Amino acid sequence: MSSPAELFKLLSCGVYVIGVTDGNQYNAFTAAWVIQVSFQPLLLALSINPQHRSYAMLKAGESFTVNVLGKDQAELARHFASPIADRLAKLPWRPGKTGAPILSQALAYLECRLEENYPAGDHRLILGRAVGGARFQPGEPLLYRDTGDMNGASHLFPEKF
Ligand SMILES: Cc1cc2nc3c(=O)[nH]c(=O)nc-3n(C[C@H](O)[C@H](O)[C@H](O)COP(=O)(O)O)c2cc1C
Repeated sequence: MSSPAELFKLLSCGVYVIGVTDGNQYNAFTAAWVIQVSFQPLLLALSINPQHRSYAMLKAGESFTVNVLGKDQAELARHFASPIADRLAKLPWRPGKTGAPILSQALAYLECRLEENYPAGDHRLILGRAVGGARFQPGEPLLYRDTGDMNGASHLFPEKF
């Protein structure tokens, strides 16, 4: 018998740094729960814990960036999930057309304007319309399953269904 935690790890996810701003402050955090959900318009879904500092900024700024991390960038994933006051300090970035931060070291980025914000259990499901993006480097994306238990989430799963 497999546990929910083991089975959910088999769902393939990438690892991203989500950039947000409320117009005054900038922040960015690591996220794995990002997927495309529509072709026309081009929509992405992001699941965010509303207790994150970034949530209020995302709501206020009505936009976000999805910075794609590469296979050798697990340390950046760890950095953007760690309890540091200003995670963007000392790293190269620039504001996109929406103001949300774009990381120069990422493999690529997509920039989104907030379309919808739905309740999703202990998270919020954010739909964003892609309004821009670019590839910065060649390389393969980092996969969530290869980060092990970096987010310390194993204990959040129920033991059985
Ligand atoms: C690999 C990994 C994946 C994560 N995925 C998500 C996610 O999809 N959604 C989310 O809300 N938090 C996710 N987190 C947790 C946040 O990155 C973390 O709680 C962060 O400190 C939140 O930052 P903030 O409070 O400054 O916004 C993930 C963490 C890691 C390490």
